[in-house]
Amino acid sequence: MRVLPHARIPELPNPYFGKVRDCYDLPADATWPDGRRILIASDRISAFDRILAAIPFKGQVLTQVARFWFDATADIMPSHVIDYPDPNVVIGRRLTILPVEVVVRGYLAGTTSTSILTQYKKGTRALYGHVLPDGLRDNQALERAIITPTSKAFDGAHDEPLTEAEILAQGLLTPAQWEEVSAAALALYARGQKMAAARGLILVDTKYEFGLDGAGRILIADEIHTPDSSRYWLADGYQAAFESGSRPPSFDKDVIRSWVAARCDPYVDPIPEIPQAMIEATSQVYIQAYEAITGTRFVPDLAGETPLDRIRTALRPYFR
Ligand SMILES: Nc1ncnc2c1ncn2[C@@H]1O[C@H](COP(=O)(O)OP(=O)(O)O)[C@@H](O)[C@H]1O
Ligand SMILES: [Mg+2]
Repeated sequence: MRVLPHARIPELPNPYFGKVRDCYDLPADATWPDGRRILIASDRISAFDRILAAIPFKGQVLTQVARFWFDATADIMPSHVIDYPDPNVVIGRRLTILPVEVVVRGYLAGTTSTSILTQYKKGTRALYGHVLPDGLRDNQALERAIITPTSKAFDGAHDEPLTEAEILAQGLLTPAQWEEVSAAALALYARGQKMAAARGLILVDTKYEFGLDGAGRILIADEIHTPDSSRYWLADGYQAAFESGSRPPSFDKDVIRSWVAARCDPYVDPIPEIPQAMIEATSQVYIQAYEAITGTRFVPDLAGETPLDRIRTALRPYFR
């Protein structure tokens, strides 16, 4: 199986191994006074703050879907992107990531305990500083998109729900920064919804990370509108599902997650070995998502003995 479980490259400096990406920070130089961050998307799939498996081509799909959207939204806000030296790799400006993850939601949806649908069904109406009306049904479109921010948990800690008032009171962002990122997030989401709709998709909700450069300018960082950071539904089939109260059809990439959750307490127990067929099916789902979102065929990069060899070759110019 051709897979990139990790991208540990000892010749690169200042490593940070995230849940999905393995990152290296290049020091500042005359051209890039903030320094650069090499972000290598591995094939790891993460849930419950754990790594569940490695899914062939997932890292390439994520990097290329993000590239599609960074290109399609550059007029709204500039991104961190400097270069794509390999299908799994982006080199970004090194930014100070703002400590708030800006989640935008257009629908009453979700399954986890922090999702607005779960809380709404428990009777909660005041959510993330918004008040939702009574009488909404599962998976209904909200009157307008709302921002449901969470704290950005650095180094594997848990994300916590926030309100605008808390963000400002705790000084996580200045009022001007909050105004800028919330306006950008809503504009990015609106663009995403519009373009997704043209391809028969619904961009249900998504998460943005923003960062500050040395001059205090805000850029969009990390990834954008990928299957990992976003929920998509298939427009065809949404209405029927909504009317019958069932979950709308989507890219079914949560099979592994559900399989694990049915077999153990995923926050505590060791993760059971995932069946190979399920891994391959999930790989196909990611590829299908790439093709549906971008409208282009996915071409797996098969160069090199392994994906890591290929990436090492592409990044050799940055070796110490
Ligand atoms: N341009 C950037 N500058 C600095 N950090 C960034 C930039 N873009 C993304 N990041 C950070 O790099 C990491 C990407 O790896 P990821 O696997 O998503 O990690 P995590 O487990 O922390 O979410 C994230 O912590 C993200 O906030
Ligand atoms: Mg992340």
